[in-house]
Amino acid sequence: MPAVVVLGAQWGDEGKGKATDQLSQHVDFSVKYNGGNNAGHTVVVNGEKFALHLIPTGILSPRVNPVIGNGTVIDLKVLFSEIEELEMRGVSCHRLLVSSRAHLVTPYSLCVDEGSEILRGDKAIGTTKRGIGPTYAEKMYRTGLQVQDLFDPEALGEKVTEIARLKNPIIKDVYRLDPPDPVQVTEELLQFSERLRPHVVNTSLILNNALDEGRVVLFEGGQATMLDIDHGTYPYVTSSNCTAGGACTGSGVGPTRIDRVVGVMKAYTTRVGEGPFPTELTGEVGEKLRQLGGEFGATTGRARRTGWFDTVVGRYAVRVNGLTDLVMTKLDILSYFDRIPVCVGYETPSGRTDQMPDYSQDFAAARPIYEEIEGWKGANIEGVRDWHKLPAAAQRYVEYLEEQVGCRISVIGTGASRENAIVRHKLV
Ligand code: GDP
Ligand code: IMO
Ligand code: MG
Repeated sequence: MPAVVVLGAQWGDEGKGKATDQLSQHVDFSVKYNGGNNAGHTVVVNGEKFALHLIPTGILSPRVNPVIGNGTVIDLKVLFSEIEELEMRGVSCHRLLVSSRAHLVTPYSLCVDEGSEILRGDKAIGTTKRGIGPTYAEKMYRTGLQVQDLFDPEALGEKVTEIARLKNPIIKDVYRLDPPDPVQVTEELLQFSERLRPHVVNTSLILNNALDEGRVVLFEGGQATMLDIDHGTYPYVTSSNCTAGGACTGSGVGPTRIDRVVGVMKAYTTRVGEGPFPTELTGEVGEKLRQLGGEFGATTGRARRTGWFDTVVGRYAVRVNGLTDLVMTKLDILSYFDRIPVCVGYETPSGRTDQMPDYSQDFAAARPIYEEIEGWKGANIEGVRDWHKLPAAAQRYVEYLEEQVGCRISVIGTGASRENAIVRHKLV
């Protein structure tokens, strides 16, 4: 199984980091293909907790070559502080490969992210303020900076000056923030160029050659299907293609080479930031789920919004990604509940449906229709690794979701540690 995509099937923080880390003994390359340091993937290895943002989780496994693909956006300051922190903890980063075509987050993008969120007021997206959206906007606007620009200081200076010419009037006069000085920005970027140079390669060529040799490549999605710029709950989304197609455009590996697409979903739902969330629980039960699941962001520390599992979202993720398998995480967290509601459809202004509404107004107004499934309250399933050791009610919950979303659940998470999982079907 040489090329496998692992991506978020809900609104992010499903446990993609843990899911990809678990596969790492069988993987030669792990590729981040979208997003930047808006991502936060927590991985627990031998009781030690790592929170990864820009660097693929494959870095934690010495046999894996971690790759930051062309579809990503890189804040160099953050990249090097992440490298330093990992190295201090004994994780070597010399194997890291970075695409010469990845885009760079600049102080201009950080200012625009900050300023536009403030200006939007109650219409704010609730971004991570890591400059992600504005950096992708620059890329599309064709004024962005790529990693390779770091190696031509004169041209870099000219490009930064041009960005300043276009952006500083807005930063100063509209957002009322201090505009960054282009000379200083250029100098800061150049400070990193020699440190980055040994890592910079043609990642598309390397990955395709690796696949030709039968090596295993794992594509590690950031964010998630419902945050995808095309398929998510626009405009309450991130600015990249988190869905399966993004693995191809974000790495330079064609779709005919992808063998398996794995969606990661929690046994319930969470969301950080603004935007519609039909199964959201705002009362005591939602708070209970948040506390039990430790639902606080790994990047911004914000409390995650919580709610029941939504099979409409599940079916949608299976469809738009062409999922072959699912990893369902955090089943252990549901052991507290007597009965567990599962959303099977919506009442919307356009009628009842079990498919994702195509119009955002319908989704924003959707009221969930629930089926209640019997829980397995009191049974501690944390750390269970054998399907047959799960209480019958927990097995039924998994099988019910599988049937509803139309995709097999191949792995079930029963705890945060690397080994806490039930593998029903091997993914690599
Ligand atoms: P990611 O962004 O998709 O990688 O997910 P995050 O790391 O942001 O959030 C997932 C959280 O759930 C992390 O704190 C993980 O350690 C934790 N986690 C992952 N899988 C499981 C599981 O099966 N059970 C429990 N209890 N925690 C899990
Ligand atoms: P991982 O990879 C959850 C959300 C933000 C905001 C929206 C846009 O850990 O699953 P952005 O800064 O990207 O412009 O913010 O997307 N968001 C995430 N939510 N997990 C993430 O990453 C996220 N990355 C961005 O909260 O609502
Ligand atoms: Mg996360």
